[in-house]
Amino acid sequence: MLNDNNRGTPPASSSTEAQTDHQEMIERLLSERQIIVASNRGPVTFRQRGDGTFSARQGSGGLVTAVSAVLQGQQAIWIAAAMNTGDRRRARAAAEAGDTLITPESGSKFKLRYVVPSEKAYYRYYNVISNPLLWFLQHYLWDTPRAPDITRETWEAWTGGYVAVNQMFADEIAVACDACDQEPIILLQDYQLYLVGGMVRKQRPNAILQHFIHIPWPDPDYWRLLPMEMRRQICEGLLGCDIVGFQTPDHARSFLYTCEAYVPGCSIDYADRAVDWNGRHIIVRSYPISIDTDAVRRTAYSQEARAYERYLPQHWNEYTILRVDRAEPSKNIVRGFHAFDQFLEDHPDFLNRVNFIAVTQPSRMDVEEYRDYLDDVSAIVGRINAKYANVETGWQPIHLIMGESYPRVLAAMKWYDVMMANSIIDGMHLGAKEAALINERNGVLILSEGAGAVQQLGEWALVVAPADVEGTARALYEALTMPQRERQRRSAMLKQMVEQDDVTVWFRHQLVDIADLVVGNDTDAKEQTAVPAKAQ
Ligand code: G6P
Repeated sequence: MLNDNNRGTPPASSSTEAQTDHQEMIERLLSERQIIVASNRGPVTFRQRGDGTFSARQGSGGLVTAVSAVLQGQQAIWIAAAMNTGDRRRARAAAEAGDTLITPESGSKFKLRYVVPSEKAYYRYYNVISNPLLWFLQHYLWDTPRAPDITRETWEAWTGGYVAVNQMFADEIAVACDACDQEPIILLQDYQLYLVGGMVRKQRPNAILQHFIHIPWPDPDYWRLLPMEMRRQICEGLLGCDIVGFQTPDHARSFLYTCEAYVPGCSIDYADRAVDWNGRHIIVRSYPISIDTDAVRRTAYSQEARAYERYLPQHWNEYTILRVDRAEPSKNIVRGFHAFDQFLEDHPDFLNRVNFIAVTQPSRMDVEEYRDYLDDVSAIVGRINAKYANVETGWQPIHLIMGESYPRVLAAMKWYDVMMANSIIDGMHLGAKEAALINERNGVLILSEGAGAVQQLGEWALVVAPADVEGTARALYEALTMPQRERQRRSAMLKQMVEQDDVTVWFRHQLVDIADLVVGNDTDAKEQTAVPAKAQ
């Protein structure tokens, strides 16, 4: 593993003086430069009411929650895709009113600007390339003898969807930059926008560009499942930026290897974690994302969450296991249930006394594999419940709660004895961090080795190999029989870790690196203008 100087930021032990310097650098940076964020999903989705007005609902997912949290106090511009009819209508209404910027919610300082692709282009970009292809690749989800097939349709979706929509983002960013006095700070987010950095760089050679990738970055061998042209465009798009950020040092290193393998003419400095390419110097860093601890607590103790506490106890038992996920193949929900089945077989004394609550949010239902996965989840829950259910007491081991309610998720997280976060591979697993922060029962965390969160939380969790059903069953037993004192010790450490490394730290570390870059650029510019003067 790379040593974690890879954070590119001061280690926790750095002096107060250095931290004050960094704080001043950041404040100067933010006072002088506009921030522009670009991500596929925006902070809210709109719905048009019968009377023509719009209601806004907060967007879901870790990316939106984290970026919304850090932008809340900033006068930033957030560029996102209009993802549905409501968003498209809102964008049109804004354009008709002569506004390019939308205030997403009352009280938000930052403004929203939409990219509005045609439905067909968006479908190809989102439902053919971003999710079934890139997400699957980056989470090692393929059964490779059978998938993927890169067909003529894939290529059409690449050109007419992914490339086209990325170009629309780049053009929108360029327009937003034109309105700024100084080069703004452009923060690109995630796998839907890999080409944007390179495209913006072509239009604005001095742009300040950072791209943060929220999901894992696989090894170069696995990238070979994409045609050379696609993987090269992806790497070169990212190398259009000044800084490329990942969740973990391992993923940052994989990216360096991938560039070395597929980008002609680049030279890699593994010690400095940098790439020299096309006359530019690109740094590669890791910034583990986290949660907004105050906001999570506020929601967890809100009236809405407390209302759920009235009906959630019907799902609790002497021992309660919890998992919370999107119905997403990478989350490994089915294997988690297999492990539970194994545990019940091995320890029949737990029958009737333990409930496994799975709060599951249907996701990406336009993609066949997700629909099939949700069917697999329902099927195994049915099988296990049928196998163990006790008709006399009415006990059934698994309680599947479907749907999307963040207050309900947090209400459930307060209560568990064991939280299962056994993803096959995961950029971070923010749910594990939320759970660790607000659980009130000294709950034990079972955490996959493949989750980015293991880097910060692994020491105080029970770490499992994601395919190890037997090992996960054993971890369940260990967690459910762990002495209270040990549970308390681990859970206190987990809370402390999450508290000290929250989402503001994630953002601050990125800003420190960007501030360094800006200072470096300014110095270079001064030196360049000074040279001819000396030569005269
Ligand atoms: C999760 C991941 C993000 C990703 C997002 C996309 O939140 O952590 O990395 O960008 O899913 O999901 P969406 O529902 O917007 O397609």
